[in-house]
Amino acid sequence: MEDHFIELINVTKIYHQGDNPVVALDHINLNISKGEFVAITGKSGCGKSTLINIIGGLDSPGQGHVMINGEDTSLMDDQRLTLYRRDRVGIIFQFFNLLPILNLEENIALPYLLREGSNPPTAKMERLLHEMGLYERRYHHPHELSGGEMQRVAICRALINDPAIILADEPTGNLDSVSGKQVLEILRRLRNEQGKTIVLVTHSQEGAAMADRVLRMHDGKLL
Ligand SMILES: Nc1ncnc2c1ncn2[C@@H]1O[C@H](COP(=O)(O)OP(=O)(O)OP(=O)(O)O)[C@@H](O)[C@H]1O
Ligand SMILES: [Mg+2]
Repeated sequence: MEDHFIELINVTKIYHQGDNPVVALDHINLNISKGEFVAITGKSGCGKSTLINIIGGLDSPGQGHVMINGEDTSLMDDQRLTLYRRDRVGIIFQFFNLLPILNLEENIALPYLLREGSNPPTAKMERLLHEMGLYERRYHHPHELSGGEMQRVAICRALINDPAIILADEPTGNLDSVSGKQVLEILRRLRNEQGKTIVLVTHSQEGAAMADRVLRMHDGKLL
């Protein structure tokens, strides 16, 4: 495995709310190899989502550096950061974040459309839909799907641009145990078969058991 694929150097994130600064991340140093599956655990408010958002370029580290394959994200201009978010990371959220007015296929196509200005190749879309067991439902809308199906749509959307990094923030938090297990197995397969680098925030034993390495956070620090 290629070392230093994702590297956080002394990352500190402080949110200023009124007079009370909240230290969400406190001098985080972290090194994730290419193709590694890392799980992050820790109680509510300890900084897990902040960490995911900073790795995914959705939020900026206040202090410190986030290096992706040797490139410092804090030195990227807006355009480069947009490309990073669009092409190199796929993010999966607890509440799926699908667009209700778009059907399943359109939801999945959206990141590709933003990149290419056209729909993804039919073969690619169909392969993903089949892999995730969604082909028959491709013209349905999110409200017609179960939670597990919605999360599998979100996984397809995260994969459509072939990113090297998959970030998943409690992706099983709203799923029953069977659908949750399916999602975890999909993540594991993405690592094993496609060499994706996975960072998974999870509260579940099963989630932690899937990972190559489990990191515990407490009050913005890695233990
Ligand atoms: N935009 C924000 N503005 C102010 N404070 C924030 C903001 N985002 C997060 N925080 C605070 O930063 C801390 C870490 O939040 P974060 O969402 O990373 O926790 P978490 O570990 O993901 O929690 P949970 O398990 O509940 O999702 C919390 O105290 C939270 O209130
Ligand atoms: Mg969170």
